[in-house]
Amino acid sequence: MTNVLSLRGVSKTFGAVAALTGIDLDVAAGQVVAVVGDNGAGKSTLVKILSGVHPRDAGTITFEGREVEIPTPAAAHRLGIATVFQDLALCENLDVIQNLFLGQEIRPLRLDDVAMETRSWELLRRLSAKIPSVRVPVAALSGGQRQTVAIARSLLGDPKVIILDEPTAALGVAQTAEVLNLVERLRENGLGVIMISHNMADVRAVADTVAVLRLGRNNGTFAVDEVSTEEIIAAITGATDNAVSRRTQRGRTP
Ligand SMILES: Nc1ncnc2c1ncn2[C@@H]1O[C@H](COP(=O)(O)OP(=O)(O)O)[C@@H](O)[C@H]1O
Ligand SMILES: [Mg+2]
Repeated sequence: MTNVLSLRGVSKTFGAVAALTGIDLDVAAGQVVAVVGDNGAGKSTLVKILSGVHPRDAGTITFEGREVEIPTPAAAHRLGIATVFQDLALCENLDVIQNLFLGQEIRPLRLDDVAMETRSWELLRRLSAKIPSVRVPVAALSGGQRQTVAIARSLLGDPKVIILDEPTAALGVAQTAEVLNLVERLRENGLGVIMISHNMADVRAVADTVAVLRLGRNNGTFAVDEVSTEEIIAAITGATDNAVSRRTQRGRTP
């Protein structure tokens, strides 16, 4: 299995704080990699490095076989790395279509409503999304539906890798199931998915691989169907420091 994205030895400090030290991470097309870890483990810093918000201090990032730099969010977008941040950055008062195309309207000066509506439905269908209408303001949507709109928006640039930061953190049971379904669709569409999560049930439900961060370092990478929840939690809390139970990453053959 070839990786669409590979990190080797990625490090980042903020002053005296070592937020990330020597991080390795691999994501293949059609694979969901969950990144888990306690507060302060470095998850958000990792997301920010991959989305061009923070520069890394050391290490290499290989994307589709080429070593790359990601100096800005625009560079991440051009490469094909899309990120859905936890705050979603949707405009409450605008409708679904307006949110999807905000800043990237199909015709810059004369918005092509019909084309945008068609493209919106295409995207939402691809995600098997349950949005009743693309003409309702986002304020009227449920948390799960908002997450759907944010994910659909990130697909407009045709990314190869999509990063979801705690996509179910604020959601109830039914909406969580809806979003996890969406993650399955992303995988079926051949994307590499990095999902930051605190929720072991979610990780078990959709991830192929789980990468544990602890105090800014890798503390184990596991194939989800070969690891128990207790083992993952032990790696998160440090009961199994030094990655005693590290296992070979096992990919999914398409
Ligand atoms: N902009 C920043 N300036 C200074 N320290 C930061 C900054 N961002 C993160 N950190 C520190 O880096 C470490 C990792 O943080 P973070 O990546 O947010 O972890 P997580 O998302 O896993 O909770 C923490 O010790 C945090 O305080
Ligand atoms: Mg965080």
